[in-house]
Amino acid sequence: MNNKLSAIVAVCDDWGIGLNGDMIVENRADMRHFVRLTKGHTVIMGRKTLESFPGGRPLKDRRNIVLTRDPEFTRDGVAVAHAVDEALALLDADEEAWVVGGAEVYRQFLPHCTCVVVTKNHCVRAADTFFPNLDEDHGWAVASVDGPYTVEPGQGDEGLAYEFVTYERVEQDGTGGASPRSSWADAVLDVGSTVVNSVLDMLAG
Ligand SMILES: NC(=O)c1ccc[n+]([C@@H]2O[C@H](COP(=O)([O-])OP(=O)(O)OC[C@H]3O[C@@H](n4cnc5c(N)ncnc54)[C@H](OP(=O)(O)O)[C@@H]3O)[C@@H](O)[C@H]2O)c1
Repeated sequence: MNNKLSAIVAVCDDWGIGLNGDMIVENRADMRHFVRLTKGHTVIMGRKTLESFPGGRPLKDRRNIVLTRDPEFTRDGVAVAHAVDEALALLDADEEAWVVGGAEVYRQFLPHCTCVVVTKNHCVRAADTFFPNLDEDHGWAVASVDGPYTVEPGQGDEGLAYEFVTYERVEQDGTGGASPRSSWADAVLDVGSTVVNSVLDMLAG
């Protein structure tokens, strides 16, 4: 399978993501960003995150896969999975899918993701659910930063600073360090071409 699995999440400075079953920051620009990236694709979520949506309804214009351990659970417009492997098996080859939370589901799917798109809201709010701190995890590196921006009047928590940070999984280099996959591959190619050039010099000379 060549499907691309990514996670998308909005965190506060302490990586808090939710309280009492709800989000902790209101930011409509972030909602639009979420829709822009996930629309037309598959989204994977936990049953509690589904219940947090208006009317407990799935996200429109997306295929919704919902995890639950309840064998009786059904909901209109939802594909139900009872285990991580079962959810992964529902993905088509080459398709792009997004893990959209919450904390329990992010934690279990993170090892299967190659990219995490994080909205960093620069504040700390009361929270009971957290995303793993990727800045302290050598398995992930920042690939791009878009922002900072400020929540505009009428768009949620007015005045709050935020940015979109994309993390990509990095290859371990075997020396305890880690480097982005492309740099590591470039380094190998550089060494390889040096060896080839030396051999060509010897043959020529
Ligand atoms: N800031 C953000 O970007 C963001 C995004 C999404 C959610 N959130 C917040 O996160 C909170 C919800 O997160 P949460 O961790 O409490 O719940 P969750 O991950 O949304 O859902 C947990 C539920 O998923 C099911 N589940 C989990 N792992 C499973 C597995 N391996 N096999 C089968 N079923 C499995 C279970 O459902 P059953 O109980 O039915 O068995 C479990 O109770 C809310 O506050 C929400 O607002 C924040």
